[in-house]
Amino acid sequence: MNLDNASALVTGGASGLGLATVTALVDRGVPTTIVDLPSSAGAEVAEKLGDLASFSPADVRDADAVDAALDVATSKAPLRALVHCAGRGGTVRLVNKDGSAGDYDLYKEIVDINLVGTFNVLRLAAARMAANEPVDGERGVCVLTASVAAWEGQIGQIPYASAKAGVVGMTLVAARDLSRAKIRVCSLAPGIFDTPILARFSDEIRDGLAAQVPHPARLGRPEEFASTALHVIDNAMLNGETIRLDGAIRMSPR
Ligand SMILES: NC(=O)c1ccc[n+]([C@@H]2O[C@H](COP(=O)([O-])OP(=O)(O)OC[C@H]3O[C@@H](n4cnc5c(N)ncnc54)[C@H](O)[C@@H]3O)[C@@H](O)[C@H]2O)c1
Repeated sequence: MNLDNASALVTGGASGLGLATVTALVDRGVPTTIVDLPSSAGAEVAEKLGDLASFSPADVRDADAVDAALDVATSKAPLRALVHCAGRGGTVRLVNKDGSAGDYDLYKEIVDINLVGTFNVLRLAAARMAANEPVDGERGVCVLTASVAAWEGQIGQIPYASAKAGVVGMTLVAARDLSRAKIRVCSLAPGIFDTPILARFSDEIRDGLAAQVPHPARLGRPEEFASTALHVIDNAMLNGETIRLDGAIRMSPR
């Protein structure tokens, strides 16, 4: 997708993989709207990145707030790129240590943020893109974020793995659905990336995680996610596919 005279929107753009993607888009001269929670560092990040970055606070499950963010994006230029990174983990066991059944509300909340929120952002962004004039035969491109947990969920990750498998499942059908509108959809499935999600762990745990990656035996760098997202945007033949970005790791049960 040619991003000349176009804008982009990045959810989860205040931190980690989303922040690296916002930075890469701004470096390329693309006006980029960061969507993240009101409690996030989105406003500070946008200010630091300069005039091309804007922050529009929204929970990805909130249709009105996401639509307001899309208004901000389209006020700069037609929206032609979505990179949806917002998400969170959370531990749920099927049977707790005390013998009680697993937490139903937390299961639903994590699926709601990671899966239903993805559908919400994708449908609203695609509706905006569908109104664009095609450039080089394309109206827009959407990059979603899954996880290797979609295939190898670890014990305790049942809501997260269910949601990310849902993102993988929606990728091809979304690409098929939006093909008539000339909008592409791909997902990236990161392995273990060095973002604030991991910052709470000790160096020892982080080194242990890095050692599990066959090659390169280190954590992924957020810039590597961002450059892959930009490649998906650039490469018109990438569509309907989920790309693992994981140094060949296959997660163990725990
Ligand atoms: N870091 C990894 O190793 C890794 C691996 C696999 C998948 N992922 C996925 O990559 C994405 C980005 O993760 P990250 O590591 O950059 O994490 P991160 O915590 O650094 O960033 C996630 C951002 O999403 C925002 N967010 C959370 N819930 C939201 C909501 N309901 N509405 C709007 N914004 C919300 C957070 O405020 C945060 O800024 C997530 O979807 C995550 O599941 C990360």
